[in-house]
Amino acid sequence: MSNETTASKVDLTAIINKWKNVEGSLVMMLHSVQDACGYVPRETAMEIAKQTNIPLAKIYEVLTFYHFFKLTPPAKYQISVCTGTACYLKGAPQLLAELEKVINVKAGQTSEDGKFSVQALRCIGCCGLAPVISINGHIHGQVKPADIKGIIEETTKGEAK
Ligand code: FES
Repeated sequence: MSNETTASKVDLTAIINKWKNVEGSLVMMLHSVQDACGYVPRETAMEIAKQTNIPLAKIYEVLTFYHFFKLTPPAKYQISVCTGTACYLKGAPQLLAELEKVINVKAGQTSEDGKFSVQALRCIGCCGLAPVISINGHIHGQVKPADIKGIIEETTKGEAK
């Protein structure tokens, strides 16, 4: 899906009208855009600037200050590695290293083709299954580095290479 298509899905006028008179409106507008698109496309940020007279630089100041906001489309497979204490002690760093080896993506990065992203998270509440990774919200527990390749293959099964 192109960025343009994604951005055009957003009813920006409705979002702006909903929030324009509310304190903290810019952050709320950006949240609404991200809810609809999965990220905040640049052309949408530019359109908000145009329609609200908020300088684009100010909008990007907010977007980059809050790590919650994403400036690029979400990857098809969003992999989260829990690095909370239990998972860390049971091998989360080795899982991150193995992911880097298998799919060539480091924590905090997205692959160039947009297929995989990897992020390190704090405890996700499944400590009894440590170490834990989640792929698009699907939890894998007691993962060993040697399991990573198989989990990725299983997850992407049926896709053209
Ligand atoms: S520390 Fe990983 S799930 Fe709690």
